[in-house]
Amino acid sequence: MTATSTAATARTTPQMNYVRNAWYVAAWSSDVGDTPFAAKVMGEPLALWRKDDGALVVFEDRCPHRLAPLSMGRCEGARLRCMYHGLVFDETGKCVEIPGQDMIPPAAKARAYPAVERHQWCWVWMGDPAKADESLIPNVWPLDPDQGWLLGTGILDYQSEARLICDNLIDLSHLSYVHPATFGTTESWATHSPKITALPRGVRYELWLEDQPNMVGGGGGQVDPWTTYDMLVPGIFLLRNTIYPVGTAKACNYEAPGEDVKPLFDAYTCQAATPTGDRTARYFYSWGPHSSVGNEEVRDHLMVMARQAFAEDQAMIEGQQRVLDATEDPRVIPTAADRPVVMYNQLLAKLVREEKSGGTESGEAAA
Ligand code: FES
Ligand SMILES: [Fe+2]
Repeated sequence: MTATSTAATARTTPQMNYVRNAWYVAAWSSDVGDTPFAAKVMGEPLALWRKDDGALVVFEDRCPHRLAPLSMGRCEGARLRCMYHGLVFDETGKCVEIPGQDMIPPAAKARAYPAVERHQWCWVWMGDPAKADESLIPNVWPLDPDQGWLLGTGILDYQSEARLICDNLIDLSHLSYVHPATFGTTESWATHSPKITALPRGVRYELWLEDQPNMVGGGGGQVDPWTTYDMLVPGIFLLRNTIYPVGTAKACNYEAPGEDVKPLFDAYTCQAATPTGDRTARYFYSWGPHSSVGNEEVRDHLMVMARQAFAEDQAMIEGQQRVLDATEDPRVIPTAADRPVVMYNQLLAKLVREEKSGGTESGEAAA
């Protein structure tokens, strides 16, 4: 990428950076129990609840009667009752009961969003319901309990745009400066160039480093870490960090290690940065080892490290947001390490433009 093609560009408004026709993570599956759960995505308050068969339903968190929050309602079988004046809604949002009244006006309808529970996350489609396509849900397979990964989980609420969290995750050169104390990350993370590949709905990063301190894997000493991630629309991040004995990177000719190359340690993190408002976001995170190289104790140790590191990120990103907000015409100067950041944001901008024009970049109408 030339300096010209990454030339400083004026900042766009936050809303322009988020695609609506996408599945956003609104909650962990475990957040939604027998009572409704309040969440927010792209400024829209949501009430997540379960029918008695366990199926997830997502409503706008607003009763059509007098606008009480439906998240304060009560699950009744396959229906939700607003606990202000008792109106009852079926899973489509249609009102099926008004206490003391036989006639139900057609306008008495709660807005229902397309929703899917998969990989321990509750996904909500924020765009045109007719376009909700489950095949667009990112494949966050390491979160599935039968895949052998022992992942601890958590959330962090940010006073910043979600896009700044995504930029942070994509550009791992920050590991050298934000996390040296927590992860033992040397300047190699900033000075070595990863292989970056464009994906249909994201970017892939692959990097070998050699002879690095082994802090994450335990056991001390020096190691060769192999790191790869996929950042996928609309802010879903899957990173695998696998640690090998020194000399493995060279032996692999600096290509991706095959499954036959035995690691000293292997960890996955699956994360989602969901915009909850223009300047707020909810960050869903997980981290842990594969059961072949670690156990629950190792997972809990990694989660302590993760919480410390994510607090370091949060302090930097929220500080960045404050500076952005105080700057009249904020512009950025992309560096070489920003290449995947630029690629990902260009992809998002293209999807947003297509969404607004109702077609593809080539001008064809969307099917
Ligand atoms: S506000 Fe929901 S029943 Fe009245
Ligand atoms: Fe970080």
